[in-house]
Amino acid sequence: MPFRPDLRWSDVTPEALFLNRRQIIAGAAAAMVATPALARNKWSVDQTPNTFEEITGYNNFYEFGWGKEDPVTYAGALTTDPWSIEIGGMVDKPGRYDLADVTKGQTIEERIYRFRCVEAWSMVVPWHGFELAGLLNRVGVQSGAKFVAFETLLRPEEMPGQRDGSFPWPYVEGLRLDEAMHPLTILATGLYDRPMPNQNGAPIRLVVPWKYGFKSIKSIVKITLTDQMPPTTWNILQPQEYGFYANVNPEVDHPRWSQASERPIGGGLFGGRVDTLMFNGYGEHVAALYAGQDLAADY
Ligand code: MTE
Repeated sequence: MPFRPDLRWSDVTPEALFLNRRQIIAGAAAAMVATPALARNKWSVDQTPNTFEEITGYNNFYEFGWGKEDPVTYAGALTTDPWSIEIGGMVDKPGRYDLADVTKGQTIEERIYRFRCVEAWSMVVPWHGFELAGLLNRVGVQSGAKFVAFETLLRPEEMPGQRDGSFPWPYVEGLRLDEAMHPLTILATGLYDRPMPNQNGAPIRLVVPWKYGFKSIKSIVKITLTDQMPPTTWNILQPQEYGFYANVNPEVDHPRWSQASERPIGGGLFGGRVDTLMFNGYGEHVAALYAGQDLAADY
């Protein structure tokens, strides 16, 4: 896959194509005060990102309901300021870190990543974020730690989906430590030069581009270093269908549908399905993490 270190979304997309007039007007004031100085990087893909409307209008965020438009409809009610993350377990500096403290000293970069949902749709998203490794190094991972567990906010008053008692709230996810320390793994705080929209996981969410989208947990309030493989929401719900690893893999089908191809969102009239790539196209960077592992067994 071609990676373009010098590429930003503004180089590949005329603004009029991704922002409609209403959003340009709404965004104009913010744009005048903040032109973020973003570091460029070697991890972005050379693909035109989806529009702002597509990325923020078609979401999975079950805390706000099961429909793809429930998050954009209901997530506005979520209070994201103040926000803090409790970092604990096998770390040298456990504690409750305010969001400003979490991002302190980290280099916020634009990362144009492919994003592949396990439901077989995909997008390309220009995230803003920083490497999770930067935060983990700052809090000091103790020897013996093997996994990182993440937890989303539990707040049923503002998240109507959480009033559904059949779901094991809060949403939880996890990574093996080497996956968490990989430079592709980011904590994202925005997209398209804007703070993270609520429906996309404000104010801070995980993005792991070589794994199915459900690994990329939103609105994180807790990070725990542990020596045990942590429970993960979809694995708890349907262990035969969703594993801990959840690497994008066209050769291992979901029990109820094929993973060999995907439907790019916004493909339009002539946009058909495209082949799904092993590790979502990031194999040259991450395949070595799984050397010797049977990825059909470790799905
Ligand atoms: N995180 C939380 N807390 N709750 C969720 O329902 N959905 C996951 C993931 N993170 C989810 C979540 C799934 S299934 C996907 S595909 C992605 O978020 C969707 O991210 P997006 O809406 O920004 O495209």
